[in-house]
Amino acid sequence: MALGNALAQIDAQVQRYIDQLKDFVRIPSVSTGTDAQADGGVAQAAEFLVDQFVQMGFRTEKVQVSNDTNPLILAQSPEPSPNRPTVLVYGHYDVQGVDNPRSAWEVDPFAAEERDGFLVARGASDNKGPSFAHLKAVEAMLAVGDSLPVDLVFLIEGEEECGSRALSQFVAEGGLDQFAPLLCTVISDTSMYGPDKPSLTLGLRGIVYTEVEVFGPAQDIHSGLFGNIVRNPNQLLVDALARLIDTEGRISVPDFYAGVQPLSAREKDLYAALDVDEEAYCRELGVASLVGELEYPLLERRWTRPTLDINFLGGGSPRTIIPATAKAAISCRLVPGQDPEHVLAALEGHIRSRLPEDTRSEFKNQHLSPAYYLDLDHPLVEPALKAIHTGFGLEPVLTREGGSIPIVVDIAARTGAPVLLVGLGQITDNWHGPNECFSLRDFHRGIRTSAALWHHLGQAVPT
Ligand code: BES
Ligand code: MN
Repeated sequence: MALGNALAQIDAQVQRYIDQLKDFVRIPSVSTGTDAQADGGVAQAAEFLVDQFVQMGFRTEKVQVSNDTNPLILAQSPEPSPNRPTVLVYGHYDVQGVDNPRSAWEVDPFAAEERDGFLVARGASDNKGPSFAHLKAVEAMLAVGDSLPVDLVFLIEGEEECGSRALSQFVAEGGLDQFAPLLCTVISDTSMYGPDKPSLTLGLRGIVYTEVEVFGPAQDIHSGLFGNIVRNPNQLLVDALARLIDTEGRISVPDFYAGVQPLSAREKDLYAALDVDEEAYCRELGVASLVGELEYPLLERRWTRPTLDINFLGGGSPRTIIPATAKAAISCRLVPGQDPEHVLAALEGHIRSRLPEDTRSEFKNQHLSPAYYLDLDHPLVEPALKAIHTGFGLEPVLTREGGSIPIVVDIAARTGAPVLLVGLGQITDNWHGPNECFSLRDFHRGIRTSAALWHHLGQAVPT
């Protein structure tokens, strides 16, 4: 069987692949915050990928959607054929900043240090390692002279950490339509269920994120002079945001749960069968206990129930003033059936209804995206599970994730093709935080999984 040769090649070449991944993570391709402009890292990472794809004989394009966006890398495998299905692979080469805080990093975030089998570097897990695994699987197959079982189109963006502006425009303008019809999209930007617990992720939660500002006096004023006669925006805001979650863990915004479907018994059973150590969560997170809608098991709360969080609260300063304004950032994670526009309207309406009528408030900087969900019975679930099994030599589990990848929903809607989420990272990889890391053993098993995935997907449809 042809797959055997590619797997043997991967096993033989893995150290070389690791060295190349180290070169990739040494490029500081930060797309967020004040580090974003530094060192031209974004352009360099884009160039690194172009080189990689060109060496594999891919038709490679650096797509500059507009002047002020980072380039998309679009690369198509050699000799595409109408007799083979086409699979899209999405990933991102941009990374988060390193000032969170910089002093908490135990290593130089761009030195590609290896510790106990982990690559410790910004972007190692989110998302350079996992997306690079897919490139190396292709390289191995081509190196042993196998023809690719599927045509592949890689789309690696440079703005995932700052809103995917170029990519959403590219998708909306039909940039992917030339590859239609797609069999599926494959993405490794989620996590495994745990160490040695590889998984296929069936769903991602959607998101509603908004920032609210409540306005008071024209500038900060002395609270001795003017206390008792003007409204204090800090007070107004905390009153408006008070008890958005009740003692039962229910979100109290009217109509918030509109459209939420109960979980099927089959999915309930799937998640009930996974080991959960609540005490380990508490230890890992440094909290005394876990909360929420306790009638739902922990994994259902994490993956299948909507959330509401106040991400930021600020106003005034620690002195005796009445502040001019107060601000909060609020985000909700959405589940299948919830409409982001509707949730945003409900949330805004509820907050405004709790503010005095003559108080000015402003909502801005929204992110809105519905949840993504792949049906348990979809015919590609089986080949994906088989591939993970081959790659890891372990029985995979089905999961969902609580996080959001808005562009996934756009890609799924535009292409009409399902998205297979095959995460290679761990929830302990410190995404966005200091000392981000990625297991090099999972990198190796991930490359094997990817090769097996092309193989099994090629067999999934009669040609
Ligand atoms: N890779 C994550 C998404 C993710 C997080 C998937 C947790 C599974 C579990 C992605 O890079 C991310 O952080 N997305 C943001 C999107 C938001 C800013 C619109 C998120 O989920 O907060
Ligand atoms: Mn991220």
